[in-house]
Amino acid sequence: MLNWDDPLVAVKPRDDHQTSIPPDSIFADGSLDVLDPDTLFTRRSEPRDRSAAVRPGQGLVGNHALMATAGAAPVVDPNPFIFAPTPQAELPIEDMLIPAGHRQAQTPDQDRSGSPVAGGATGLENLEMGAGRVRVDDKQIINCRADLNQLVPFKYDWAWQKYLDACANHWMPQEINMNADIALWKDPNGLTEDERTVIKRNLGFFSTADSLVANNLVLAVYRHLTNPECRQYLLRQAFEEALHTHAYQYVVESLGLDEGEIFNMYREVPAVARKAEWALPFTRHLADPHFHTGTRENDQILLRELVAFYVIFEGIFFYVGFVQILSMGRRNKMTGTAEQFQYILRDESMHMNFGIDVINQIKIENPHLWTPNFRQELVDMIRDAVTLEAQYAHDTMPRGILGLNAQMFEEYLQFIANRRCAQIGLPEQYPGASNPFPWMSEVLDLKKEKNFFETRVTEYQTGGVLSWD
Ligand SMILES: [Fe+2]
Ligand SMILES: [Fe+2]
Repeated sequence: MLNWDDPLVAVKPRDDHQTSIPPDSIFADGSLDVLDPDTLFTRRSEPRDRSAAVRPGQGLVGNHALMATAGAAPVVDPNPFIFAPTPQAELPIEDMLIPAGHRQAQTPDQDRSGSPVAGGATGLENLEMGAGRVRVDDKQIINCRADLNQLVPFKYDWAWQKYLDACANHWMPQEINMNADIALWKDPNGLTEDERTVIKRNLGFFSTADSLVANNLVLAVYRHLTNPECRQYLLRQAFEEALHTHAYQYVVESLGLDEGEIFNMYREVPAVARKAEWALPFTRHLADPHFHTGTRENDQILLRELVAFYVIFEGIFFYVGFVQILSMGRRNKMTGTAEQFQYILRDESMHMNFGIDVINQIKIENPHLWTPNFRQELVDMIRDAVTLEAQYAHDTMPRGILGLNAQMFEEYLQFIANRRCAQIGLPEQYPGASNPFPWMSEVLDLKKEKNFFETRVTEYQTGGVLSWD
C-alpha cells in the first residue's frame, strides 16, 4: 500500500521545519539550525524532541544530524606501515601467503602453529569431527583456513560493530510519505523540465546501480572474504541494497512514472550507461567460479575490484546524484524522494566505510600486495572515475538548476576523491579542492573520535534493541 492511502497520515507527527531548507546542526536541547529560505540566514529553532528528528517519515532532517546516527565502529588504519620492498617480495608466491615466522612449518592444511585446522575457504566444507576450536589468531580476512561457520571469537570488531549499527538503523521505504511529491509531480507548473530530468536520470541510474552492487556482493565479493563477522555485515548490506532498489521502485510507483523508462535507462541513456559499463568489468573476476584468491596476482585483483565497487562506485559515482536530489529537498521540492535518498545515503556511507576497512585490513595482512605500481593503478582508476562522474553531472544538468552547476560538481568530486584516497592510504590527487556543498555532511568519512561514539544519538534504534524514546 502506498503512503497516500495511509489513514494515519493526518495524525502522524510532522517535522515543523519541513517547509524550510533542512538544517545541518542539531543541538543538545533538540533545537535545530534552520535555514530560512527567504532570507537565507540561519536561525535556531525552538527546543524540540530529538527523538523525532531522525526517523523516516517525518520529513527531511539535516544531513549532519542524520549522519550522527550512523554509528561509530572503530576504523582500520589506512597507513599501518610504510611500504618498502622487502625480501618477502622475492619469495615464491606461495610463501608470501604465509605470515613471517610460520613459513617453514605451515601448509595450507595447518594453522599457524602447525596444527590441523577445520573448515576452509567457503564454509561449506565437510565437517571434521573433533577438530580444534577456532582461535582469534586463526582468522584472516582473505585466504583463511579456519572454520567460516563460527562467528566467534571476534577478530574484527570494526566489522561486527558496523553490523550492529546497520541493524540499529533499519528503515523501510514505505515509512516515508510521498504525498507532497505526488502533488508536485502532477502539477504541470510544479517542476521545470530540467528538474524532472534530473529526478528521472537519478532514479534510472540508482535503480539498476543498487542491483548491480547487490549482485556483486552476493555473487562475487562474499565468497572471497573469508571472515564470518565480515560476512555477517555483507549479508546485512545485501539486504540494504534490496531496500534501496525497493525505495526507487516505490518512488517510481508513487509518481506514476514509466517503470520501463526508468529501469531500462542504463541501456538507453549514455550518461547512465557509462557508469554501469565502467563498473561491470570489475565484478567479473570475482564472480567467475574458477577464480580463487591465494596468489599475489589474484589477491590484487580482489583488492582492485573492492576499490572499484566500494570506493569508486558507491563512494564516488553515487554522490552527484545524492547532491542533486538532496538539493531539491533542501528547496522544498520532492521532499519525500529526498528523504528516501537521505536514508540511502546514510546506508551507503556505512557500506563505503566497511569496504574501506576491508581494503585496509587486507593491506595490513598482505603488505606485499600494496606495491607502488598497484597503488598507481588505483590512483589512475580514481582519477578516471572523477572524470566520468563529472561528465555525468554535466549530462544530467547541462544548464544548471537549483543554484548548482557542473563546475561545482567537478570541485566536489575532486574533494571527495581526495578523501577516498586518504581513506585507503593513497596520495592526495587534487590539492586545494574544497567542498562546495558543506551541508552534505560527511561525518562518516572522518576517522571517528571516541566522543563521537559516546555522544551518539540513540533514538534511531529498532524496537527490539532500544527504546525509541
Ligand atoms: Fe545501495
Ligand atoms: Fe551500498
